[in-house]
Amino acid sequence: MVRIGVIGVGGVAQEMHLPYLTATEGGGIPEIEVIALCDVVKPLVEAVGKRYNIDETYTDHNEMLRKSEIDAVAVLTSQVDHPQACIDSMNAGKHVFVEKPLAQNVEESERIVEAQGKNDVVLEVGYMKRYDPGYLLSLEEFSKMKDVRLIRMHNIASHHRERAEVTKKLRFPIPDELSKKGEAERTKQTKQQLGEEASPEEMTAYGMLLGVTSHDINALRGIFGDPKRVLITEIRHGGRFVTSLLDYGDAVCVYEFGFTNHKWWDEQIAAYSPEKNVQVIFPSPFLKNAPTVTRITEGSERTRDTVVTDIYEEAFRLEWVSFVDCIERKLQPITSASDGKRDVEIIAAMVESHQKKMSIDL
Ligand SMILES: NC(=O)c1ccc[n+]([C@@H]2O[C@H](COP(=O)([O-])OP(=O)(O)OC[C@H]3O[C@@H](n4cnc5c(N)ncnc54)[C@H](O)[C@@H]3O)[C@@H](O)[C@H]2O)c1
Repeated sequence: MVRIGVIGVGGVAQEMHLPYLTATEGGGIPEIEVIALCDVVKPLVEAVGKRYNIDETYTDHNEMLRKSEIDAVAVLTSQVDHPQACIDSMNAGKHVFVEKPLAQNVEESERIVEAQGKNDVVLEVGYMKRYDPGYLLSLEEFSKMKDVRLIRMHNIASHHRERAEVTKKLRFPIPDELSKKGEAERTKQTKQQLGEEASPEEMTAYGMLLGVTSHDINALRGIFGDPKRVLITEIRHGGRFVTSLLDYGDAVCVYEFGFTNHKWWDEQIAAYSPEKNVQVIFPSPFLKNAPTVTRITEGSERTRDTVVTDIYEEAFRLEWVSFVDCIERKLQPITSASDGKRDVEIIAAMVESHQKKMSIDL
């Protein structure tokens, strides 16, 4: 049994993780028990504890690390707060599951990578798409392609999460002082990465790429490996629309991202070759058990279009199954700390390419 303490019980903790981690009859993870919760907002952590019948609640993660008999933590705070929570936890000998992105900038990501290297613990970054059976099925199809000539990543996202809530989230206002401190830290860490001269559009684009579409960089890398360089990036509409060209040698990846007010979610990765096209289509991450679908178009004499829906298994649950497996078998997850750091490096290079109006080697 892996006993977990959760750090940060806001949005994603309540929407996705706690329902799976605490489910007792099927649908849960039998090898995990959540025994402690921590959030800097006291009424929130107490209310969430009451909802999920978890008595041990804290407002300071170091106190939780000292007093609670946990084996691992789930760091589900905003990424600005990931490094300290992850490092303190690993130094206390706890395994760490941390939400994506790993951190707000490369330097902060490196601090986590270093601490993981020094401690004999597992760290998994919560890129749930990498554990999604539909994505894994698409990987088989992508790997059979020869002569890929174009890759396309398309993510037109929206405020989807509130609309997809099954159980209404418990919400309490964050004290003004804490919220101002968090915002100042986010700005400081963003400028540390992009420089003082970064424009507001570049700062917004960087935040959007990290917050929303780091999933796609990570999923792309899972299929095609790392791009060689960022060729160019365009940032429009106050940083809410970003187009980038990533160099994959024989193929260029057109990376299209936009954030809209629509009630839809349009996220897919496709690759094109003379004989075969493969496309993986992701549902909104907040729709539970919605399948990821693979579409294969092949043949020149007779073209056949096949759409494969694999199983309705929730990736947010399966990433936890992987975490337990890695702890038991002493393995590092595919979404390790250094894997998460690489995504932050690529996103920083995408914005740097816009700043310098030149290609950036990776
Ligand atoms: N995998 C996904 O698809 C997905 C979806 C949404 C969010 N996320 C990620 O999850 C993370 C959290 O996002 P969210 O939307 O839930 O944020 P949120 O602001 O709703 O929740 C974060 C919570 O952490 C608490 N907190 C902040 N600092 C803390 C600290 N030092 N100790 C204890 N508690 C602290 C806050 O009070 C808040 O309740 C982010 O990194 C985000 O990118 C991932």
